[in-house]
Amino acid sequence: MPEPLINPWSSSPAVDVEKLFSDFGIEPISPILPELPEIPYFMRRGIVIGHRDYRQIAAAIKNHTPFHILTGFMPSGHPHLGHLMVMKEVVWHVQQGGNGYVTIADREAHAVRGMSWEDCRAYGKEYLACLYALGFEGTTYFQSKNERLKDLAFEAATKVNFSELNAIYGFSPETDLAHADSVITQVADILYPQIDREPAPTVVPVGIDQDPHIRLTRGVAHKLRMFTVEERDGYISVRSKNAPDVALEAVKKAFFGAKKYEGHVDIRGGSCADVSAKVRAIERAHGGFGFFTPSSTYHIFMPGLTGGKMSSSIPESIISFYEPESTVRKKVMSGITGGRQTLEEQKRLGGEPEKCSLYLLNLFHMVTDDAKLAEIKRKCMAGEVTCGQCKKETAERVVAFLKDFKEKMDVAAETIKV
Ligand code: TRP
Ligand code: SF4
Repeated sequence: MPEPLINPWSSSPAVDVEKLFSDFGIEPISPILPELPEIPYFMRRGIVIGHRDYRQIAAAIKNHTPFHILTGFMPSGHPHLGHLMVMKEVVWHVQQGGNGYVTIADREAHAVRGMSWEDCRAYGKEYLACLYALGFEGTTYFQSKNERLKDLAFEAATKVNFSELNAIYGFSPETDLAHADSVITQVADILYPQIDREPAPTVVPVGIDQDPHIRLTRGVAHKLRMFTVEERDGYISVRSKNAPDVALEAVKKAFFGAKKYEGHVDIRGGSCADVSAKVRAIERAHGGFGFFTPSSTYHIFMPGLTGGKMSSSIPESIISFYEPESTVRKKVMSGITGGRQTLEEQKRLGGEPEKCSLYLLNLFHMVTDDAKLAEIKRKCMAGEVTCGQCKKETAERVVAFLKDFKEKMDVAAETIKV
């Protein structure tokens, strides 16, 4: 069977971002940025580049209406710098008024990576410490400990069959059930804020590798709705998908002059947003979920110091929050750069920052001041600095950052009880 184009469990996700976008209907985020009251640096710098349905999130931020922000981490090793971007996205959205949720995907780590429950708990706590060190406020949970989540996963499972799992993930008859279960648990994670609080737009910031889960969840959220609301020429049509007749009747009664037909109600006058809100309330009053289809954002991956992806399975590629200063320095100093073969060429042609793992480390996390970053780039491209010197400066930044961050993590760790 062919490998699916995006495999969330592969250590070398496809990198042809533009093709992925056009093939899967992910949209570039740049046209939405002017709608935000404040553009965070990770969007300004082109780190977060794509989205699905982010307009409803931008609107919620702008209008101060409720929205949720959720992401998850698989506790299959120590957290490292590669995890920091998603965490910052979560924290920023919480600061913009979102209700924060973070799930520790211990069921997935156990099912897919064979991690023991004990290790899951220990690593999970480290991820939480990172989050709190960054200023996260909100709800966190371990999948295995959340009973309502598991019930929601079971409900979601009524809407997914094996051929869909096969089409999306390339699952085969040999795939074990726990793996499938961890997928549906992730679907439930993404919908969970809407049952824990109230239905509201939910944004899930992820790397492109997680998009299959987003697509699956969006489908499930839609299937679990009783109604669809569509704007037609001059009227609004509310269609029943699997609503009990009393619920459809309630929709008819809620709107003056509405006409009820077999399986749908047509409404003249009124805005689509108002009708949607009322229909959602009626759905919930009749035992439905009233889910909003979740939104997502996609960020590019920070390259590992060895060139490929940052992955715990290649220790030289990552910088974790738990390594000694000397190792950190060594790793940065031996990182792959965009420098030229010889010093003479470097001076003549300049370096290539977009290809440099250290420049990207600065762009992602180490240099928050835009002017300072632009200066690093300029000097590199003008051949005014050697990679040796530039790496040394980067190493100092990383060491200083980690020292401060680790202190904050240690403080946070004391408050985490699991
Ligand atoms: N599958 C994700 C990973 O491999 C972890 C995860 C679990 C997650 N639930 C989630 C991510 C919900 C985003 C949203 O890291
Ligand atoms: Fe990278 Fe710095 Fe070398 Fe430029 S000068 S390629 S940014 S290490």
